[in-house]
Amino acid sequence: MRPALKGEQFASALVLWQKQHGRQHLPWQHTGDAYKVWLSEVMLQQTQVATVLAYYAKFLQAYPAVADLAAAPEQDVMQLWAGLGYYTRARNLHACAKQVVGRFGGNFPRTVAELESLPGIGQSTAGAIASLAYGVQAPILDGNVKRVFCRYYGVEGYAEQTPIKKKLWAIAAENVPVAEPGVYNQALMDLGATCCLPRNPACAACPLMDSCEALRKGMVGQLPTPKPKKPRPELYFISLIVQDEHGRVLLELQTGKGIWQSLWTPPCAACSVHPAKAELFSLVDQWIEQYGLGGSDSDSQPVKPALLGQIETLNDQPWLVHELTHRKMHFKVLVLKLPGARVGFYGADEKPVPKIVHKLMGRLDLLGQSTQGAVAKQNALDF
Ligand code: ADE
Repeated sequence: MRPALKGEQFASALVLWQKQHGRQHLPWQHTGDAYKVWLSEVMLQQTQVATVLAYYAKFLQAYPAVADLAAAPEQDVMQLWAGLGYYTRARNLHACAKQVVGRFGGNFPRTVAELESLPGIGQSTAGAIASLAYGVQAPILDGNVKRVFCRYYGVEGYAEQTPIKKKLWAIAAENVPVAEPGVYNQALMDLGATCCLPRNPACAACPLMDSCEALRKGMVGQLPTPKPKKPRPELYFISLIVQDEHGRVLLELQTGKGIWQSLWTPPCAACSVHPAKAELFSLVDQWIEQYGLGGSDSDSQPVKPALLGQIETLNDQPWLVHELTHRKMHFKVLVLKLPGARVGFYGADEKPVPKIVHKLMGRLDLLGQSTQGAVAKQNALDF
């Protein structure tokens, strides 16, 4: 292994690679036309080349020059952009075209500072336009390039944190060559898009393989450092599963905002990690009242004693854990067999239920109650 290359040496290796292995035939390349380069760069900010190609062609056909785009009604521009996503880009594209006409007489400016003053053009896009269209010695640092630098120079830490970002921009500025800065920047982007891939990078085909820090340290899989994860909130719930003799369960429509909005669930209430008995007793009273579980006089279900008895042993019941991306939920269930036709009871295949309902019903089985046919899997949504 050799030490990581810097400056002109780094740039020369990439420029050589670009000419042999890089992408040469993208329609906005070798045009020297800043309008075409800008249009492609804005489209490529959040979209892959394969998708961009058709949109790029449509836009150029509709608006051959920046003045045509500037003069177009905004709705037409939005319509043509439809399907590319990130629609702020389309609004900025239009606003930018107007400013290029209004402020710069229809010619894109040549300096990074002036380019950056236009809507939708950040530092990296400005560097790409200046270098690719005008041959200006300007650095770029998009997502692909960050990955290449983090790996090649073994930069650890999340790339969006200010000190790391500064370090990466310093590397970018130090390496961009006087000669052929456009080819060099294209090489960086192509290397990131075709070789130094996020997963399964093709290190054996990389021109920088014998001096890559990440490869030397066996850290290619760890770099770039992923975004630090926020701790997930842990939430605790008591759920009440009431089942009739046909296996139908009491379900209610969730109308409030939240992850279960518009789905049906058994009654569920948030509780503390160690719910006090008093808290649970009053919850049971509330549920009996709210759902009319006490029944009429002719109904002699010993509902309340059955539920209170379960509360006595609830501490022995393990939490049932349901892990989602942004939260970790813990459930305990109170169960009740309640024969007789009642309002609000459904076979769970009749209603859209979140996946957790299956788990809660599974718990019912463990507790010795049959749930045969109660929940049809195809109706369960995955949260
Ligand atoms: N992604 C952003 N800019 C690009 C370019 N000029 N070529 C290929 N992919 C890109």
